[in-house]
Amino acid sequence: MDYIAMSEFSRTLVTTALPYANGPVHLGHLAGVYLPADMYVRYKRLKGEDVIHIGGSDEHGVPITLTAEKEGITPRDVVDRYHRMNLDSFTRCGISFDYYGRTTSKLHHETAREFFLDIERKGIFIKKTEKLFFDPKAGRFLSDRYVTGTCPICNNPEANGDQCEQCGTHLSPLELINPKSKISDAIPELRDTMHWYFPLGRFQQQLEEYVNGHAEDWRPNVVNYSRTWFKQGLGDRAITRDLNWGISVPLDTSDAEGKVLYVWFDAVLGYISFTREWAVLHGDGERWKEYWQDPQSRLVHFIGKDNVVFHTLMFPAILLAWNEGRDAGLYNLADNVPASEFMNFEGRKFSKSRNYAVYLGEFLEKFPADTLRYSIAMNYPENKDTDFSWLDYQNRTNGELADTLGNFIKRSVDFTNSRFEGEVPAECTAEEWNSVGIDWPETLRQFDEAFEQFHFREAVSTGMEIARASNRFLTGSEPWKVIKTDRGAAAKTMALSLNLCHALSLVLYPVIPETCNRIHRMLGFEGGIEDMFAKGSSLLAVLQTPPLKKGHRIGKTSEILFTKIEDSAIEPELRKIEKLLAEAEKKEAVKVEERMEFKPVITFDDFLKVDLRVAKVLSAEKVKKAGKLLKLQLQVGSDTRQVLAGIAKNYTPEEMVGRNVVLVANLAPRTIRDEVSEGMILAVEGEAGNLFVIEPAGNEINGKQIQ
Ligand code: 2FM
Ligand code: ZN
Repeated sequence: MDYIAMSEFSRTLVTTALPYANGPVHLGHLAGVYLPADMYVRYKRLKGEDVIHIGGSDEHGVPITLTAEKEGITPRDVVDRYHRMNLDSFTRCGISFDYYGRTTSKLHHETAREFFLDIERKGIFIKKTEKLFFDPKAGRFLSDRYVTGTCPICNNPEANGDQCEQCGTHLSPLELINPKSKISDAIPELRDTMHWYFPLGRFQQQLEEYVNGHAEDWRPNVVNYSRTWFKQGLGDRAITRDLNWGISVPLDTSDAEGKVLYVWFDAVLGYISFTREWAVLHGDGERWKEYWQDPQSRLVHFIGKDNVVFHTLMFPAILLAWNEGRDAGLYNLADNVPASEFMNFEGRKFSKSRNYAVYLGEFLEKFPADTLRYSIAMNYPENKDTDFSWLDYQNRTNGELADTLGNFIKRSVDFTNSRFEGEVPAECTAEEWNSVGIDWPETLRQFDEAFEQFHFREAVSTGMEIARASNRFLTGSEPWKVIKTDRGAAAKTMALSLNLCHALSLVLYPVIPETCNRIHRMLGFEGGIEDMFAKGSSLLAVLQTPPLKKGHRIGKTSEILFTKIEDSAIEPELRKIEKLLAEAEKKEAVKVEERMEFKPVITFDDFLKVDLRVAKVLSAEKVKKAGKLLKLQLQVGSDTRQVLAGIAKNYTPEEMVGRNVVLVANLAPRTIRDEVSEGMILAVEGEAGNLFVIEPAGNEINGKQIQ
């Protein structure tokens, strides 16, 4: 078929980010990673392609040990509990993993050790002794996440040592203002410790070539984000930690004692170990190599935007290090890394720590998976953050799924059963197929392109457009009237309608698989939809002409595919959000009270050292590398200044222009993300981390001192 571009790849390996097994997955995770990946693999299966979906739990690292300490249980208890819980939620949501592994497995430990030793043997790692934070009360070194403090970029007082949750900036614990140990609240001390470092810089050129080679086919956010790292120059990354939970450094030397591999070094290798485990389970322990090492095989990583660097730089660099000096058994690098933006919940960011989330398992106890899948797919955060709201969910379920799709299927099946003895009553031609209001070749081309280019909203919308067109066709043809005078014409209408039902069950299968399998059975088929598509046969070919032949027997009964969601079902959920928000606000209030501990007294002379001035914002722009930063050009009397302020969440650049602000004018300049900030402007943190700029009012005050 010439309208479908033949793929240069003969098989596809899809991986999904391994969620930490330290808590339940929520709708944000589903929207960004697991649902799009599942739709993609299901679509590929209906194209008769060789595809496998590999995922699993990330069971090492500080997120796990922190949870264990908080709950007073062992890390093993934590990962056992959440691995089971998350796998169960994914299964109930129809996420069709071919294999869902665990990074605590034996084979995974072996794989990670093998990689470490290979790279160590090649002399690629660098050993460095550096000063790291040490908790004097707890008597141990503190990994990044065990340190908390104020973010130097956005002033979030609860930033983690590795990343600030509020502004998304990657940090090192040494950058935090007022660092504190999460274990004991002690102020950490700097002490010497030796670690293995991976010299990312050694691979910079290869990585740049790799990313630049995908500048056209990767999402702009993925390319740009990787490039900002190149611009800063790739440095050495510590790939070991002082921790007692993880994969121990596989060396007998005394300097390896008490050290484990950094969780990110081990987690990305999980994709490989789990494919190996999948292969063993399928009776051919070597088959994983087809997916990882055959250049004909395509590797696609589905992740959230916060994981980009690990998948476009770290993991490829590890694979390049392995490949170095080998002529066989070389690993492929990812062909695409469709990283999603975030999906918010009722206008606010999901937050595990604030418990502001809807957990997948909980959701599925009340509502069916397919309605959730559909509504989330239609809000897929492809290139901007999107929102999940209960009202949108209710409207889509009742309108698009129940009224449009469900009704059409039921009307078609019922009428055929009551008036045409449950058989497809006529043969239809390709010409008739194209006269139902759908240009099939063009529609299928767009549909295929949308899936292949990871435009999931478009792909699913195309499916729903076909449902709308089908409804219009059936309603407009009025077979219930026409049958009284022209049974042949009514038969034709019903034959086409049943073919449309069949087509809908195929095109909507990736998004609502359980429902489509029910439609499939209503149409008289046995087995599931995927069973129809053996290797090499594709839904795209099947739908070029009307697939159901005259005489095909459909099922005897119809089902109601979607139950409408009443307001009464949504109301408790809306009340719950109000409660969550109120709790979040209460927490904020407590935080404010806590901060009422004033700083130590200073003298008037000390105060006079701070030169506070009124300044006016001349221009403002976003800073590419840090989403929450605005770069401001200020007029301060006869002087101009450039200041970086972490206020982009609350103010657009346009909103800032023309405002009066308070400038700390004699603060030593600092370089933040390659930009110089000559001072800072004053702001106050309000509810939910929102920052409000202090704006002095008055005439002729520009440049004046504030005293
Ligand atoms: O951010 C996270 O939840 C990580 N556990 C993702 C790991 S993805 C991959 F490396 F396994
Ligand atoms: Zn921050």
